[in-house]
Amino acid sequence: MTDDGDSGHGNASAVSTRSGSSFLGPDRLNQREDSTLGPDRLNQRDGTPPRVPSAREERAGVSRDVKGRIEFEHVDFSYSPDTELIRDLNLVAEPGQTVAIVGPTGAGKTTLVNLIMRFYDINSGKITIDGVDIATLPRGEVRGNIGMVLQDTWLFGGTIWDNIAYGRLGATDEEILEAAKATFVDRFVHSLPDGYETVIDEEGSNVSAGEKQLITIARAFLADPALLILDEATSSVDTRTELLLQHAMAALRTGRTSFVIAHRLSTIRDADLILVMQDGAIVEKGNHEELIAAEGAYFDLYQSQFAAAIE
Ligand SMILES: Nc1ncnc2c1ncn2[C@@H]1O[C@H](COP(=O)(O)OP(=O)(O)O)[C@@H](O)[C@H]1O
Ligand SMILES: [Mg+2]
Repeated sequence: MTDDGDSGHGNASAVSTRSGSSFLGPDRLNQREDSTLGPDRLNQRDGTPPRVPSAREERAGVSRDVKGRIEFEHVDFSYSPDTELIRDLNLVAEPGQTVAIVGPTGAGKTTLVNLIMRFYDINSGKITIDGVDIATLPRGEVRGNIGMVLQDTWLFGGTIWDNIAYGRLGATDEEILEAAKATFVDRFVHSLPDGYETVIDEEGSNVSAGEKQLITIARAFLADPALLILDEATSSVDTRTELLLQHAMAALRTGRTSFVIAHRLSTIRDADLILVMQDGAIVEKGNHEELIAAEGAYFDLYQSQFAAAIE
């Protein structure tokens, strides 16, 4: 494990504001129709023509023009003026790439993803999405393109179906089922007496920890955000569920730029880019093979923390 379990934002897991289903409510839907706001604006500044929306996007009534290139340029950030945390951080995530972030507790992993969400403003430097400085965009617009799946599984006391449907207001039954199937929720649901109508009780004791994670993944899949932030859950699940979780996460990451605070070996191995953080800085960057060959910080971390997990 590389993290102690803090997610920084409590219970706001698997929330995508793109769908207008949470922070901003129905207003977001109106906002999107205004051509001066929303993804179109990002696109205009980038000077690229809008791409043709997929059938799924057409059904959803939105067109996803955000390509999802994220860049940090000389970013400095501190929570308090007297303690500097992130210094001169530079990184590029190309559209569709998976970026895994590893490092010890307190290294700044959660902080880095919080900066992408604009939960905090940086002291100096620039963070861009498709070349647009996020500091110039309304916070709602930035968050509207980002889906989050955080460690604390957040499900409400309703049915499994409603918990998934929450991912995108106005999704059709067909789309909800599609999301459930893609993320393996559909499989375990059929073993429950009430199926999708199973009410997740207060303690969630009728559904296992791994199954709850699958439901939050299904919810994010339905929301279909251009960018994804995953703080992988650390709760222990059985081997079979673990495998399903890996496949569900992979399905969710497909076709979108994803930042993963990684606890799972599989994610780290497959990531296009691994960032090793220590004390607010990226001390190493590369893919798994490159970083193993470098025999540096990642290699040490891998030897000490991950090697045992392979056996
Ligand atoms: N809201 C906050 N206010 C002040 N300090 C914070 C806050 N959140 C995190 N920190 C501090 O910033 C550093 C990095 O934390 P964090 O980004 O949560 O690290 P990680 O996710 O790698 O464990 C830690 O020293 C932590 O105590
Ligand atoms: Mg953290």
